[in-house]
Amino acid sequence: MSKLNGKIAVVTGGNSGIGYASAKELKSEGATVVITGRNSEKVEKAAQELGVKGIVADVESILAIEDLVEQVKKEFGKVDVLFVNAGIFQAAPIGQITEEMFDHQMGINFKGAFFTTEKFLPILNDGASIINLGSINAYTGMPNTAVYAASKAALNSYTRTAATELAPRKIRVNSVNPGPVSTPIYSKTGMEEEQLNGFAEALQNRIPLKRFGQPEDIAKLVSFLASDDASFITGSEYNIDGGIIINPLLS
Ligand SMILES: NC(=O)c1ccc[n+]([C@@H]2O[C@H](COP(=O)([O-])OP(=O)(O)OC[C@H]3O[C@@H](n4cnc5c(N)ncnc54)[C@H](OP(=O)(O)O)[C@@H]3O)[C@@H](O)[C@H]2O)c1
Repeated sequence: MSKLNGKIAVVTGGNSGIGYASAKELKSEGATVVITGRNSEKVEKAAQELGVKGIVADVESILAIEDLVEQVKKEFGKVDVLFVNAGIFQAAPIGQITEEMFDHQMGINFKGAFFTTEKFLPILNDGASIINLGSINAYTGMPNTAVYAASKAALNSYTRTAATELAPRKIRVNSVNPGPVSTPIYSKTGMEEEQLNGFAEALQNRIPLKRFGQPEDIAKLVSFLASDDASFITGSEYNIDGGIIINPLLS
């Protein structure tokens, strides 16, 4: 029997990368899936490919999140799996970080993620699973990631508090911290292709398993945490990174 039969799952940022692969995996395990994203064409295309419901909602807008919740409530009632995945990566060195850059990245990766749970809470079933997409950058001092890393560290901190506060409703809250994963997120940074290739090669050499993760690697973990197989797991973080965080100086 599929392990998510009868469950309703919402995946934010589900039109691309890790969210897309996770929506596919959750569906293959029997869940009814809703994906969201900020671009209507992309959301529509992905929803059609995946055979799931697509709803446009920019998580930088609280009103848009409230509207999303209303739409999901109207069509599906209550939610069992909330994958808080939407995020961006913008690199900049300390000393050149503008307020706009700070607000935009924090606004999506932390404030947007925070208020996604806040607003979905009334329509989450008791026993639901919330999965926050963090990053191993929450723990590393990688150059040019000051805002990004802080946004993910803040989200992982929130995971622990939320896990404690929502435990009386048996709602589990966990974080997934990927290392480098092959997704379009890097090409959206505005870096030149040559620069991106150099960056990817340098990173790959530092990963003990000598490869980038694939979105499907992360999707399997998300699907496990969403399921009743993980019913005793809450407030935890899972690094899924080919070992880079334990061996950053491997040559
Ligand atoms: N790839 C990695 O190496 C890596 C490592 C660690 C953590 N992560 C995290 O993994 C998550 C997914 O990233 P990914 O690598 O799969 O990148 P991706 O392919 O760019 O996917 C990100 C998704 O989030 C959506 N999104 C961005 N801003 C949004 C907003 N304001 N409102 C709604 N949706 C928004 C994107 O929409 P558009 O398609 O319109 O941009 C896209 O659907 C992010 O939280 C990222 O920080 C990624």
